[in-house]
Amino acid sequence: MSGNEGALTFEEGVIPFIDTYCIDCHATDIQEGDTDLETLQNIGEGPKKERETWKLMFKQLSEGEMPPEDEYQPSPEERAAVVSWLKEGLGLTDSAEAALVE
Ligand code: HEC
Repeated sequence: MSGNEGALTFEEGVIPFIDTYCIDCHATDIQEGDTDLETLQNIGEGPKKERETWKLMFKQLSEGEMPPEDEYQPSPEERAAVVSWLKEGLGLTDSAEAALVE
């Protein structure tokens, strides 16, 4: 057992999640909150500024702020899977996480 079974991948887990729950407001030609989630490359592979976007996404998802409450919501399991993928991809320690999330 690797302990990683069921973990998301960028292509098969994270992109479909964004496409389902976020893209209506965060596509390149929409960018609510100045946030474009359409062109993101995998963590660490895109331009440096994307790291800030991933961190904001981590914060919004951890705090349950996005999607906005009157919008179609992911299940708690889907949300948790993406949050843990982000935490691992960003290499966040618990204290770094605490600093991001109020
Ligand atoms: C119905 C439209 C809508 C959907 C769907 C939506 N957002 Fe947003 N998002 C907004 C708006 C409007 C703002 C700017 C105002 C605000 O922060 O509330 C925003 C802001 C943001 C920000 C910037 C926050 C900051 O502090 O600058 C991030 C990151 C974000 N959204 C991520 C997401 C993620 C991830 C999803 C999908 C899980 C998502 N959003 C789904 C409308 C949406």
